[in-house]
Amino acid sequence: MTGKRKTLLLDGTPCIIRPISPADRNAFVDGFEELSEESRFRRFFFNKKTLTESELVKLANPDGYEHIAYGVAALEDGETETPIAVGHCFRQKDEPDLAEVALVTSDLWQGFGAGSELVKSLAAASLEKGIRRWFAVMLPDNDAMLRLLQKYGTNLRENLTGGVVEVFCDIDEKAVYK
Ligand SMILES: CC(C)(COP(=O)(O)OP(=O)(O)OC[C@H]1O[C@@H](n2cnc3c(N)ncnc32)[C@H](O)[C@@H]1OP(=O)(O)O)[C@@H](O)C(=O)NCCC(=O)NCCS
Repeated sequence: MTGKRKTLLLDGTPCIIRPISPADRNAFVDGFEELSEESRFRRFFFNKKTLTESELVKLANPDGYEHIAYGVAALEDGETETPIAVGHCFRQKDEPDLAEVALVTSDLWQGFGAGSELVKSLAAASLEKGIRRWFAVMLPDNDAMLRLLQKYGTNLRENLTGGVVEVFCDIDEKAVYK
């Protein structure tokens, strides 16, 4: 579950889920450019226009411990990878068994199961590295993100703060490996 794996999206499109590497830098640039304003706002909470160089370095260089990151690529012709979703876990320094989880799926691919596959891999990798709990910061109406935490987490707690909601959960090992 924590390495590279292949599966099918809900419409039958084959895809791979694999850890992010520095070679994905340009995919971050392209993927961000293609995102709708709404998806950018849901991910970053302001009208973000571009990713800075330091953000790109950070996002594309997970160390697999403090920062775990996976991407999903569609294989529409069975072979060529089209990046469609990316997710990150950022371990919290003061609470090392807790990580912030954040993800985004390209607009055209939302609702096809990429987010679920990402969260499954992120959860498995988190557990392997001693992260037992997650929190996600989201807009109060972000039902898709909330649903993902419900699917792979237990004991959900919500904390409304400054127009966004922090949702905490325990990672549900049974859901990840079922
Ligand atoms: C949140 C997000 C990553 C989900 O990714 P996705 O690839 O669409 O996820 P999935 O297709 O696996 O769907 C996840 C679940 O949410 C449900 N869902 C999807 N869109 C939904 C919507 N608009 N309302 C309610 N539920 C929704 C799906 O049915 C699925 O639940 P199920 O498996 O029980 O049927 C995606 O919507 C996104 O990128 N949004 C913009 C960025 C963002 O909000 N990030 C989260 C804050 S960090």
